[in-house]
Amino acid sequence: MARIGNLTLDAPFFQAGLAGYSDAAMRLVARRHGCPYAVTEAMLDQFLIQGGKGLKQAELDDADHPIAGQLMGSHPLEIAQGAGILAGLGYDVIDVNLACPVKKIRKKSRGGHLMQVPDEAIDILQAVRQAVPDHIPCTVKLRRGTDDSAQAEANFFTIFEAVIALGYAAATVHGRTVEQKYIGPSRWAFLKDLVARYGDMPGFSIFGSGDIWTAADIFAMIEQTGVHAVSVARGCIGNPWVFTQARALMSGDEQAATRPPTIDQQRDVLLNHFELSCALHGEKAAGMMMRKFGIKFARHHPVGDAVAKAFIAVKSLSDWRAVLDAHYSAAATEPLAAAGVA
Ligand SMILES: Cc1cc2nc3c(=O)[nH]c(=O)nc-3n(C[C@H](O)[C@H](O)[C@H](O)COP(=O)(O)O)c2cc1C
Repeated sequence: MARIGNLTLDAPFFQAGLAGYSDAAMRLVARRHGCPYAVTEAMLDQFLIQGGKGLKQAELDDADHPIAGQLMGSHPLEIAQGAGILAGLGYDVIDVNLACPVKKIRKKSRGGHLMQVPDEAIDILQAVRQAVPDHIPCTVKLRRGTDDSAQAEANFFTIFEAVIALGYAAATVHGRTVEQKYIGPSRWAFLKDLVARYGDMPGFSIFGSGDIWTAADIFAMIEQTGVHAVSVARGCIGNPWVFTQARALMSGDEQAATRPPTIDQQRDVLLNHFELSCALHGEKAAGMMMRKFGIKFARHHPVGDAVAKAFIAVKSLSDWRAVLDAHYSAAATEPLAAAGVA
């Protein structure tokens, strides 16, 4: 069982923070498919402090637990204030992002930028831990370094050892460098070495991230590296079934673990996800938001390219329903099956 402080996960995987995707709608869909824990997308401390829309977006649904609220910031006092706000909103875990490779974030000395300035990173980690009540675990998201230099590696270990010394409950390590962004492989060997060195520290868990596309990848990472749990990121966008399949693998049902979702299952999820998104963002914003999900969901469909095109044109819930009727009904898929496509 994976642990995060006082929290026990009944499965060794979770949904990653994914900016622009992992809102409450995506998280609730994931949970309904067996995901035991989720991280929000990175929230800017200043947005929480300023109140208004940023704070409103951080509010939680009762069904959306256990959850980590992920924070990004550049100043210890501000990020500590943000952490206090998230704790007050009922987040079960507070996660600090030291990993984001996006240029405009790094330029403001946030996210992945902090991997190259260990003193600043440690001040931030310390301020957050102090601001959060003891019973709420703090965690951190890191990359394996800024780049492949020896200095970057030294900086990583300085920060990582501080994470443990400060009483953080877990670290999720993405096996790519900040410079790599998302290009090239995640270095699982780095995770393996990390677990060999720090995997037995009491009260501290190491989670792995990078190149998890299937349920089998989750368990391959655990087997090859020894991480305590695995963060599922791009592999679960438009694919909540990765969690069902991972649960199937846990119970030894190899067949179910590779069984693709049926058209009916896809239809149910597509409708549910859109309705949740509408409730969260309003119909217009949900229409925009769901297009990019539609493109990913379409990959499960026998005529995915045509379906993706149809999703791109969606503006409203009724447009979305029309795509479902056109492509996800028995009338639409029976001819495909007869032609041997479905
Ligand atoms: C579009 C996108 C947005 C992301 N946003 C976040 C984020 O807000 N917080 C975070 O910790 N990681 C974020 N990540 C990184 C992922 O959580 C994960 O570490 C990374 O994608 C590597 O895993 P993968 O190769 O299995 O996708 C993001 C990744 C992508 C592709």
